[in-house]
Amino acid sequence: MNITPETSLGEIVKNNFRAIRVLEKYNLDYCCGGKKLFSNICNEKGLNAEEITNELARVENEYVSDKFNFWPMSFLCEYIKVNHHDYLRRVFPVISQHIEKVVNAHGDRFEYLPKLKDVFAKIQEELLSHMEKEERVLFPYISGMDKLYGSVSFPPFGNVETPISVLIREHEEAGGDIELLKQITNSFTLPENACTTFRVTYNELEEFYKDLKIHIHLENNILFPKAIEIESGIRN
Ligand SMILES: [Fe+2]
Ligand SMILES: [Fe+2]
Repeated sequence: MNITPETSLGEIVKNNFRAIRVLEKYNLDYCCGGKKLFSNICNEKGLNAEEITNELARVENEYVSDKFNFWPMSFLCEYIKVNHHDYLRRVFPVISQHIEKVVNAHGDRFEYLPKLKDVFAKIQEELLSHMEKEERVLFPYISGMDKLYGSVSFPPFGNVETPISVLIREHEEAGGDIELLKQITNSFTLPENACTTFRVTYNELEEFYKDLKIHIHLENNILFPKAIEIESGIRN
């Protein structure tokens, strides 16, 4: 893909899923910050855009197995549900329990641990209700668009942009909170002589962080814009 000053971070990942690896290396937020322009953000952060563009071109030639852009929306909704929502529902209680154990054992020595517990609890509470909204309201409506081209019955929420704008705001909130988790744990760096539970918890948190970034990217940069575009095509 040809990266111009007008290319956004979200578009880069949309066209080349392997770009995630490069953007993460430079701490460039492609999910909630997906609308930011590549050249602007490189300027802001004092990064060498040309060097990063070359790295992006190198990974672009690797085999890409994830063709999210071409999937029907119903399939993408199902994929997000099974691969990301169900994952979160499964790991939330497990990670919370591990954080609790680490706080009880080491909270006196590492004063950032109670804060870590609070931030994670907040993310859990907010995302559980967020995913509920997606699965009950938005995903069924969007999935229906695949089949009902030309005869879609319009939803009680007016148009699809209304719930999407709420969900994007919630993604921004969650995106800020996971960055806080990363900051509190110094990028998931373990203290010296960390016990096994500490180690497991940080590994789980790092995996959780990466998974949520991809999850938000799929919704913000692929599913939502496609739903808005298709809905407006159906209406006109
Ligand atoms: Fe989601
Ligand atoms: Fe979401």
